[in-house]
Amino acid sequence: MTILPAVFTDLTPSAIAAACDRAGIAAPVFRTFDQIGSTNDAAAEWLRTAAPPAGSFVTTHDQVGGRGRLGRVWQTTPGAALTVSVIAYPAAASVGRLPLAGALAVVETLAGFGISAGIKWPNDVLVNERKVCGVLPEAQWDGDRLIGAVLGIGINVREDFTGTPLAATAGSLTPLTGIALDRADLLARLIGRITHWLPRLDDPALFAAWRARLLLIGQRVRVTHAASADTAAPVEGRALAVDADGALRLELADGMIQRVLAGDIMPTEPGGA
Ligand code: BTN
Repeated sequence: MTILPAVFTDLTPSAIAAACDRAGIAAPVFRTFDQIGSTNDAAAEWLRTAAPPAGSFVTTHDQVGGRGRLGRVWQTTPGAALTVSVIAYPAAASVGRLPLAGALAVVETLAGFGISAGIKWPNDVLVNERKVCGVLPEAQWDGDRLIGAVLGIGINVREDFTGTPLAATAGSLTPLTGIALDRADLLARLIGRITHWLPRLDDPALFAAWRARLLLIGQRVRVTHAASADTAAPVEGRALAVDADGALRLELADGMIQRVLAGDIMPTEPGGA
């Protein structure tokens, strides 16, 4: 008999079902694959063809065609990350709250493992100033009708970024904290937090809890790849606050206030996240 190392077995259907039991969450509907292109694509197809219940999810041991924000590639090593896409049916007016729910759910889940994390606007999760998780929500439309959404989450559990261009900004949970994590347990508890928030996207408590975890508010920052009402060029200023729609409010050098709807934020003074 061949005994595979734990890294190859911890996202099997039985491991996930057992972890859901341990986490005390009602058995969700899920699909898990040894290898897949993008869990977001698989979840989108599932949503369109079978409309599984909200909270159903797709995960994989090895995601080989992962996508990130702003058209980027999201690369992972087999067995070293948790990549999951959760199906949701938000109202069209609430779809913008999905990524907030995702990032908050990750921070809350990590807290349950004794890991302190914060959110770098808009929805990156950071531990010890390193990005450990990204969130990619994708609404699914049939013409102008919203038929659902996929909330993609990628968490670096054991990725090793040493010697890569990401070494200065990205990190993984176990190397950063010394805490060994079973991906199935991480997944089950994360699903528990996501399914807590999915029916509460319009609850002011969601926005308040997300905002309370935001890093860099009050600090000087540069926003690259900015999408704003005024310009797509990089902008610098003091991060004042976030508006109810999630836009970042920046105070520019001339005192003007600029709202930024999306982008990458970096601190420009020492000691930032
Ligand atoms: C980011 O750029 O920060 C977002 C990264 C999101 C990656 C996750 S991994 C699971 C899901 N499937 C994908 O192809 N992307 C998301």
